Amino acid sequence: MEIRLKNLRRNYGALHAVDDVSLVIPSNTVYGIIGKSGAGKSTLVRLVSMLERPDNGEVYYDEKRVDNLSKADLIEARRKIGMIFQTFNLFSSRNAEQNIAYPMEICHMEKGYIKKRTEELLSLVGLEGRGKAPISTLSGGQKQRVAIARALAINPSILFCDEATSALDPQTTRAILALIKEIQKKMNLTVVMITHQMEVVRDACDRVAVLDSGHIVEEGLVSDIFSSPKSDVTKDFLSSLTNVQESIVRWSKDGGHYTLRFRGNSTDEPIISSVSKETGAVFNIRAAGVQNVSGEEMGVMITDIGPDEAVAAAAVSMLRDMGVTVEEEKKEAR
Ligand SMILES: Nc1ncnc2c1ncn2[C@@H]1O[C@H](COP(=O)(O)OP(=O)(O)O)[C@@H](O)[C@H]1O
Ligand SMILES: [Mg+2]
Repeated sequence: MEIRLKNLRRNYGALHAVDDVSLVIPSNTVYGIIGKSGAGKSTLVRLVSMLERPDNGEVYYDEKRVDNLSKADLIEARRKIGMIFQTFNLFSSRNAEQNIAYPMEICHMEKGYIKKRTEELLSLVGLEGRGKAPISTLSGGQKQRVAIARALAINPSILFCDEATSALDPQTTRAILALIKEIQKKMNLTVVMITHQMEVVRDACDRVAVLDSGHIVEEGLVSDIFSSPKSDVTKDFLSSLTNVQESIVRWSKDGGHYTLRFRGNSTDEPIISSVSKETGAVFNIRAAGVQNVSGEEMGVMITDIGPDEAVAAAAVSMLRDMGVTVEEEKKEAR
């Protein structure tokens, strides 16, 4: 199902929590929405999932407008949606399979069907045979698997994930993201992935919108955003990623005024040697590596360029001509 947002706005008093957001979230994709804490991500999700009404603007699921539905239509429309959260929001008094069965019970589905469907869902999320487990005995990753199974119980078309992996360690995060991607394909879902972590966008999303102070500041294919970020907010997210990324090796904590991003086939050309030869630039490389972004190999190099500013400028301009994205660290940030 395609989701379309038109000029969405939500104010809390004088605060514009969501400020004129227009977006198309294509069907059958994992769509990331990234922003810092307080950017308006959860508010946006509440508007898009019809939990809250916007002060202005429209929400469409395919061609159907859904932001102004009557109570009865709202209940019907909300069946197309599954949601998972950072805090899992499971019932601790119910075991795994009772949690998964809950939405089907609410819809008065037949007992035999609920039992069969619960088994299917447990196996879909990799928890075969764990149905009787009390929630308190499950790890964070297993709790999120139960929450995913519950969210999918009545076959939604859309899955909202609000910081779904933010409480999990990196390894569990990767496993849960892989599961979500697999389920997205299997069920042709539209997945909306809300996060403040660029690694979630890199590992799971096809497209991404960057949200800042209620505005969309950048939107596009994940591979494009990673290879040529435009807004400062996006660059900040990417730089936090290069610092913690294990596939980037940093051999000096100091320096690294320039971040170079090499994309696809430029990764294996002798670009640095050519630029050095041509301009006389000296590269003092502080960190480098390759990361896989949305299935595409992308090289990253953090370097100083000398011997002086004029030569560095010539080198940067030549690099850009050769299709390398060059970001210069802002002076005030040093
Ligand atoms: N119900 C509310 N009442 C008043 N202010 C709110 C409410 N919900 C969110 N806000 C404010 O709106 C802004 C965006 O919040 P939120 O959507 O939760 O951001 P995020 O999920 O990106 O961290 C924040 O400044 C927050 O304090
Ligand atoms: Mg939030």
